[in-house]
Amino acid sequence: MAFDWDKITDRLGSLGEGVGKTLKGVFGARNERMVKRLEPLVRKINALETWAKSLTAEQFQEQTRLFKEQVAKGEKTLDDILPEAFALAREASVRTLGMRPYDVQLVGGIVLHEGKIAEMMTGEGKTLVATLPLYLNALSGKTVYLVTVNDYLARRDANWMGPIYDYLGVAVASIQSDMSPWERQPVYLCDIVYGTNNEYGFDYLRDNMKTRAEEQVQRTLSFAIVDEVDSILVDEARTPLIISGPASDTSDKYKLADEIAQKLVKDEHFEVKEKERAVALLEAGIELAEKLVGVPSFFVPPHEDWLHFIENALRAHHIYHRDTEYVVEGDGEVVIVDEFTGRKMSGRRWSDGLHQAVETKEGLKPRQENQTLATITLQNYFRMFKKLAGMTGTAITEAGEFHKIYGLDVVSIPTNMPITREDHEDVVYRTAGEKWKAIGNEITEVHQKGQPVLVGTTSIEKSETVSKLLTGRGIPHEVLNAKNHEREAMIVARAGEKGSIVVATNMAGRGTDIKLGGNFEYRLNKALEEAGLVAGDLEKLDEIAAIRERVRVQCKADEQVVLGLGGLYVLGTERHEARRIDNQLRGRTGRQGDIGKSRFFLSLEDDLMRIFYRDWVKNAMERLGMTEDTPIESGMVTRAIARAQKKVEDRNFEIRRNLLEYDEVMNEQRKEIYGTRQDVLEKIELREKVEFMFARAIERHARQVHFQDAEGFRTWFQRSFGFEVPPEMAGDATAKAGNPKPVIALVLQHYEEREKALGGEIMRQVERYLLLKALDDKWRDHLLAIDSLKAGIGLRGYAQVDPKTEYKKEGFQLFEQLLHAIEDEVTGLILRIQVDPAANRGLGTPPPRYVSPVGAGKLPTNPALSDGTTPPVAQPTSNSSDGSSNTPSGTTPVAPVRPAPQPARPPAPPPPRRPAAGGFVPASQQFDMARRQQALAAAREKQQQQSQPEAPAAASTGGARGAGSGTGGANASKRVLTPKDLEGVGRNDVCPCGSGQKFKKCHGRDL
Ligand SMILES: Nc1ncnc2c1ncn2[C@@H]1O[C@H](COP(=O)(O)OP(=O)(O)OP(=O)(O)O)[C@@H](O)[C@H]1O
Ligand SMILES: [Mg+2]
Repeated sequence: MAFDWDKITDRLGSLGEGVGKTLKGVFGARNERMVKRLEPLVRKINALETWAKSLTAEQFQEQTRLFKEQVAKGEKTLDDILPEAFALAREASVRTLGMRPYDVQLVGGIVLHEGKIAEMMTGEGKTLVATLPLYLNALSGKTVYLVTVNDYLARRDANWMGPIYDYLGVAVASIQSDMSPWERQPVYLCDIVYGTNNEYGFDYLRDNMKTRAEEQVQRTLSFAIVDEVDSILVDEARTPLIISGPASDTSDKYKLADEIAQKLVKDEHFEVKEKERAVALLEAGIELAEKLVGVPSFFVPPHEDWLHFIENALRAHHIYHRDTEYVVEGDGEVVIVDEFTGRKMSGRRWSDGLHQAVETKEGLKPRQENQTLATITLQNYFRMFKKLAGMTGTAITEAGEFHKIYGLDVVSIPTNMPITREDHEDVVYRTAGEKWKAIGNEITEVHQKGQPVLVGTTSIEKSETVSKLLTGRGIPHEVLNAKNHEREAMIVARAGEKGSIVVATNMAGRGTDIKLGGNFEYRLNKALEEAGLVAGDLEKLDEIAAIRERVRVQCKADEQVVLGLGGLYVLGTERHEARRIDNQLRGRTGRQGDIGKSRFFLSLEDDLMRIFYRDWVKNAMERLGMTEDTPIESGMVTRAIARAQKKVEDRNFEIRRNLLEYDEVMNEQRKEIYGTRQDVLEKIELREKVEFMFARAIERHARQVHFQDAEGFRTWFQRSFGFEVPPEMAGDATAKAGNPKPVIALVLQHYEEREKALGGEIMRQVERYLLLKALDDKWRDHLLAIDSLKAGIGLRGYAQVDPKTEYKKEGFQLFEQLLHAIEDEVTGLILRIQVDPAANRGLGTPPPRYVSPVGAGKLPTNPALSDGTTPPVAQPTSNSSDGSSNTPSGTTPVAPVRPAPQPARPPAPPPPRRPAAGGFVPASQQFDMARRQQALAAAREKQQQQSQPEAPAAASTGGARGAGSGTGGANASKRVLTPKDLEGVGRNDVCPCGSGQKFKKCHGRDL
């Protein structure tokens, strides 16, 4: 069997794109060790190839079942079966797709399995590489995720690689943004899921907004491979995922702020800080703005939010430009354009009111101010995975960040063939005008030869400039930018054809292979379609193989022609802020050892030079003696640019780290609340939670200064719990070093009575309902508070305090207040809420607070209560209402994109998935858990001494949901009773509900 290890080690020196000499020295040796270390394993896999070849199709699936069983029983680990699994997957690929993974691809696969980043250049076949570790890790029985940058790639890759998985007997499907929750569930039940980072993240957030565990879609976060990992974990990580809904209407303020912004004069009233993407109001500006708004001062509540409104309006006018940072869609929607990829980021919104400010600037009505309902940074989402891996063509420049933030090591995998691409020196012109002229000339000349050109630009606006230039010269071309997203992949796939000219925003069409002479897969699919066949049809493998061969021969011939012309020419029109992005662009040519060429055309007026080297540029022009239309190939300029890029990279890393640090506070809190919430959804220790809350609430109120007099405490007690506490008990509790335990015991005794009156099952439903409602309502309020804390925290800088420390401190305080609010709400209602046991249909499901968006990426536009569902539990003041379930009925789950050949896993209800420990109180020092637990334990002990011995020790975790308690339908007409009604009623007395029946036959039936 061919073994190309020597070839691999030969190329170990040729590290990834554009890696500097120093980095190469330090990194190279380590990298070499990391790759060489895998040699024995690769040899082992190769040795198993004969075995894999000897197996029949059935035996492949049999092996999969066997492996799964062995792993489940703990007889073997994934590492044990790696060689066999990789050998099987390789052979499955040969048989279904006609591709035999190269040894370098095996190395890449192992690196991914180890939870590292595999840096593999464009065209090295990362899509195929991922199938090996995905298959291996799916044998653990847990769903494994492949993360792509867009829906199209998720769909394409799941379909493309699907035949391999089918052959191996594992189920695969892809998540698409327009899928309903019902369509998502079966996808997440597959062994392997393909989807975008946004969809996964939003599904996580939405799951944590659902009111039934059965409606949740995502399960354990065990293993994920992030394709284009730099794009997702670095570029995209600057904007957190936010699900938001309307809060109060502030459109008038946006309008006024916008008008004021237009009256303020740059450098007199405010400064623009282009680098930081910020504006700062100057004294004079603040004064004028205060006058225009008509308030005495912005620094006196409640006017402090005006500063923020006006600064946002100024940013909208002076920093955010239409067709660069955003586009306006036909229906009057401001859509953010990813500055790195040039892709439209539908559904994302700038936070903190900036989006509304831009909408106002554009003369659109600002969408009602959106309030955060759930949010997470991509960093924190992906850090929840037990094992994370990534692959990309360019990771080394960001290796430090990957290591620091995600604990991910980068391993640079040698290319399969030696790189022969020619990277030419930059050519630099004095002015932008001269540069564009030269670019026009160059493209014209190259085009006449027929050599394909890929022109890289840094924004949509600039791609249109190039397009106009070419149109002016009568050169046919395709423009690839965020505006024609759908066609993107198809255009890129053909960018290597003779005479093709594609103008693209940087990295647009990433993930699509540019093959010289034309794209094989694209042509194959077309040929199969024409022959009425479907790729991967296991029945027709022979017919498909014949067509594949025919297309291959055609492609080869066309490839030869283009090779003769010099391969693909990548022409960069400007340097990007990040070196990595430039490297990506260069990497689009010279794949798999092809010849190719890359060159950047720059001018001293380019943004990067203008912003960072204004003065330097002036001097340079003189020193270099630059004259009109004469370019220089100057190392000095190239170095200056590299320094500027480094500065921007560092600053961007700072922004991401800052975001992460800010989110750190929220992350702990989110884990805590979501953890508790998940418990509640799954009915875990409901009663314990409520008892714990009673103890906490009583202790806290007993200690509060204004309750130090017993009367005040008694008033609070009566108001909250609906009955009286004896004066001497209240006195004891509120005295200095007082003892609140008897009060706690008293309340718990009432609680126990209430439970007896209602029955355990109903009680659990009431608990679940109240807990869920309180958690959701208060968490939403908390997020709003945190949002405004964040918006206002910048102001603290004026008072010489570190905003971050302040934010952390106040964030904790707010969280403590949140916990108090939840406790007060739950304990204040649970003894008094009116329950009609007969109308308990759907009890346990509070009304949806927010409607999950159908299809992510699109955020909920109207997440308010929309389906008229009413709470199944009556509020203390009103009668019980008929609560119906909010589960859409009659919705049939739609089959996944690629249904499994046989159900690989029975669709079981999701297993418990709890991101945090079940406890309610965070482990932070601020909350003295031990003390409270002691209090609770003592109170319980006392209560047990006082009350009946049969008090249940632990809450039922099962319990029928919804209908069917012991008091069933027969009691439908009964009046609702409160514990007060039941005081002193004996079993043989007439029931106080007025039914005329004996209590033991009526409301007392279950006691
Ligand atoms: N072992 C193999 N044998 C033959 N062809 C292969 C093999 N592996 C990959 N290819 C082909 O190489 C091409 C590039 O694959 P792929 O798109 O997965 O590359 P990539 O590394 O993901 O590139 P990019 O960085 O552009 O996303 C595909 O057309 C694929 O069919
Ligand atoms: Mg790819």
